[in-house]
Amino acid sequence: PSETEKKYRIGFSQCTGDDDWRSTMLANMKRQMAFYPGSELIYKDARDNNDLQKEQIRELMKQGIDLLIVSPNEAQPLTRIVEEVFNKGTPVIVIDRKTSSMLYTSFVGADNQEIGRKAADYVGRLLHGKGNVIEVIGRPGSTPAIARQQGFSEGLVKFPSIKITSQVYGNWLKDDAEAELNKIKDKLTEADIVFAHNDLMALGAYEVYRKANINKKIRFIGVDGLAGPGGGMQLVNDKILDATLLYPTGGEAAIQTAFKILNRESFLKENILQTLVIDSANVESLLLQAEKINEQQRDIEKQQGLLERQRAIYKSQTILLEITITALVLVLVLGTVAFLSLHNNRKINRRLLASNKEILLQRN
Ligand code: FRU
Repeated sequence: PSETEKKYRIGFSQCTGDDDWRSTMLANMKRQMAFYPGSELIYKDARDNNDLQKEQIRELMKQGIDLLIVSPNEAQPLTRIVEEVFNKGTPVIVIDRKTSSMLYTSFVGADNQEIGRKAADYVGRLLHGKGNVIEVIGRPGSTPAIARQQGFSEGLVKFPSIKITSQVYGNWLKDDAEAELNKIKDKLTEADIVFAHNDLMALGAYEVYRKANINKKIRFIGVDGLAGPGGGMQLVNDKILDATLLYPTGGEAAIQTAFKILNRESFLKENILQTLVIDSANVESLLLQAEKINEQQRDIEKQQGLLERQRAIYKSQTILLEITITALVLVLVLGTVAFLSLHNNRKINRRLLASNKEILLQRN
């Protein structure tokens, strides 16, 4: 992007900013924004609240944004307002969670139904086609929960001897997952595996089982597979989870798509991000890779800081140069004026002297 490129305001309405997955998404977005100096990202966190999110989208529209990125907390309640934004001519990028409408400019995110199917496949293989599952579902009205559940049950059709014995709604939250599982304490022992729709709820399930002192090997599977400390990759590496399904945040892709739309370049309406099962077979190499990428990221940021400093030095030096040149011109002009007036003075003096002499001569 060049200096002459237009500056844009992008509004980002996030359903919640509380967990690591969402803060990773935001960090990735900000990192991409650094490539578009002058453009800004206005961020709003709806804290799991549909009404608050609607209000925040209205605020963003009032502030005047060129494009909206939105991850709707729940599909149905947010559909009208997002359609409204789209119909007013503001481009809309839907990220991770969807509304119930096709009225959006572009979608960025993984295929959640596929995640459900892949989880079912993995469960089927792990249990050798026979056993009981407890499913911990995300927030009921959010599209990833609906799609993961659907994909999971579809995937299990291939394994008729695997039964989902209980389903609870954990609303994507660890505490809610624990509370709901504690309500079905008597059903916990019949399960062989718990499939939770994210790693946080999977960890919650693991802790409920640990505290219940159940003497049976239970396996836990989550979704997200974040790389950082406490993330899904580490949980797999620490053998707390048997597996997790990588669910990329799409932060970078969303910003890239946003600028393609704003600069009227070609873009895809559906940007489907890749997913993959992370288990003991590949977690080590994935962690290593993530660390390498992190390192490179830090280097890029260092270089960006350096560049920024150089730019500031260049700017202050240009100003100094301009002042010096102005002063020089001023000195030259004033010098010339002084020289000319000196010259003039001398001429007048000489003339005065001459006329003085003449007067004296005449008097004598
Ligand atoms: C984070 C999160 C993720 C999950 C996604 C679904 O807020 O709960 O764990 O994969 O949202 O939208």
